[in-house]
Amino acid sequence: MSFLRACGIEELDEDTPKRVELDGVPISVVRTQGEVFAINDICSHANVSLSEGEVEDCQIECWLHGSAFDLRTGKPSGLPATRPVPVYPVKIEGDDVLVSLSQES
Ligand code: FES
Repeated sequence: MSFLRACGIEELDEDTPKRVELDGVPISVVRTQGEVFAINDICSHANVSLSEGEVEDCQIECWLHGSAFDLRTGKPSGLPATRPVPVYPVKIEGDDVLVSLSQES
C-alpha cells in the first residue's frame, strides 16, 4: 500500500477539517479525539464539500442537508444521504500525515 503526504500534523486543528487533493482526489483530513482520519471530501448525496461542515463525535456533517458521515467507516448516520463516502488509511510519520488512496470501505 503506498502512502502520499497529505499535510503536516501541525496544520491540523482539532475538529477542523482540512481539504487536500491527492492525485486529483479531494480529501478531507480531520484530527479529532487523538486520531487523524481521511475521508473523501465529496458528500455522497450531492456535490458538496464535506470539509466545510462540522466535526462532532467522530463524524463529519454535511452542511447542506445535515447527513453526518462516520470518519472511521464513511457511513451516513441518517438521511438524506444513503451511500457511504470512501475513507482512506492514514499513518503519521514524524510530522507528516500520510494517506493511502486504497479505500478501506
Ligand atoms: S448534499 Fe450532503 S446531505 Fe445533501
